Amino acid sequence: MSATLLIVDDEEKVRRLLEDFFTNEGYRVTLASCGKEGLERFVETVPDLVLLDIRLPDMDGIEVLEELKRLNRECPVVMATGYASVASAIKAMKLGAEDYIIKPFHLHELKITVGRALEKPAASHPAESSTVKGKSGFDNIIGDSPEIKSVLATVSRIAKVGSATTLIRGESGTGKELIARALHFNSPRSDHPFVEVNCTAIPETLLEDELFGHEKGAYTDARTQRRGLLELADGGTLFLDEVGHTNQALQVKLLHVLETQAFRRLGGTKDIQVSTRIVAATNRDLEKAMQDSSFREDLYYRLNVISIYLPPLRERGDDVIQIAEHYIDRYNREYDRDIRGLSPESEAILKQYHWPGNVRELKNAIERAILLGDEDIVQPKDLLIDWRSKEHTTQVAKPTVEITVTGDVRVAFPPGGISIEAVEKRLIEESLKATRWNTTRAAQLLHLSRDTLRYRIKKYDLGFMG
Ligand SMILES: Nc1ncnc2c1ncn2[C@@H]1O[C@H](COP(=O)(O)OP(=O)(O)OP(=O)(O)O)[C@@H](O)[C@H]1O
Ligand SMILES: [Mg+2]
Repeated sequence: MSATLLIVDDEEKVRRLLEDFFTNEGYRVTLASCGKEGLERFVETVPDLVLLDIRLPDMDGIEVLEELKRLNRECPVVMATGYASVASAIKAMKLGAEDYIIKPFHLHELKITVGRALEKPAASHPAESSTVKGKSGFDNIIGDSPEIKSVLATVSRIAKVGSATTLIRGESGTGKELIARALHFNSPRSDHPFVEVNCTAIPETLLEDELFGHEKGAYTDARTQRRGLLELADGGTLFLDEVGHTNQALQVKLLHVLETQAFRRLGGTKDIQVSTRIVAATNRDLEKAMQDSSFREDLYYRLNVISIYLPPLRERGDDVIQIAEHYIDRYNREYDRDIRGLSPESEAILKQYHWPGNVRELKNAIERAILLGDEDIVQPKDLLIDWRSKEHTTQVAKPTVEITVTGDVRVAFPPGGISIEAVEKRLIEESLKATRWNTTRAAQLLHLSRDTLRYRIKKYDLGFMG
């Protein structure tokens, strides 16, 4: 199949010339005459390469580049620039442009530049991109513990249901973003943009503007109309990272979007309909946040249509070793080193450490070990983790039985398994706590008769529970 080029240039003559030339060369060509149109065409046509003029009438080419990269950091962009703005072209390269070409250019030279940019393996993060582009789409999510397998099974099931809102939860560094991408790139939406916004990285005042965009004149600085990320992600996926940290005003607006699939730009008067799948992630305890009213309950239920829970690394058994080996391989290649693996002592340490920073911490530890290690296998001294800290002994084996309000029961088994009685006892304790020892209501919560509940309270000796 021939590659599609998007050419963004304000000069009609240049556009026509390039269109003729590249069509003759066997490319499909889409044209745009300004930044705004360029972004629209980019979303519509999903081109394989963008040729972007650095000087445009409505937006700065650099700004357009940033927006393009945010929509899809993998699509190569070649900047076209006059001699006077070579400095900005270099800045553009730093921002992710693949190459630049100086105007006036020879068509032949341009053809070579474009051909070269198209040949390059996409993205500066080879591992991350292959995750989602690989055959199964999950190649880069390492591990085959029952815990991670069950997560991946859920992901492939719901990827097919292209629109259900999904909430991904789990401690920091457990792979929430990785899963969000896998979800998108394995769904029917994969030809549309995956747009990511980190709700904590952007100041609250700007976040609304980013998400919803604005009309010209919406406020003093709003000199032109600007489309928000919700619109740019139309047909695709909007990944709302750290959604647990949004403020109340924004929560109300998000709820509205989820309920109606429509929103208004700031200062706008008409509703805009979008078909954007929202995937949200958080490492915050939302149940607690609802209790102290910092997170809206209605929004929680709307987001939580489908929920994916990523267990901490310490609960994924031998995955820790597989992941470590995966990254040993990767960093050997990246840093041109030849470390053959883990020593038995290192392996033991990795297995017993509690990994508060989860996979990210492991990845960093391995990167350091590969860079700094001076033996041919990774030794404990190369692993600059605080593996002697006591926490691992108290945390590792803690059985967790998490039951969500929606009735979706998720269980993470401790290494030694757990008896049904122990679980039943915990459930009864929790129901009593939740109802402040109102046994009628506690019995209702558990779908038991009051007598049965009383019997079990006695059986488990819970009579004097605090
Ligand atoms: N199963 C896995 N196999 C290989 N690499 C993984 C796996 N899970 C996560 N990673 C890697 O670990 C790092 C952290 O993952 P990610 O950013 O998805 O975590 P997160 O849950 O979003 O963290 P945070 O809550 O801090 O935002 C990334 O570099 C990711 O590629
Ligand atoms: Mg994240």
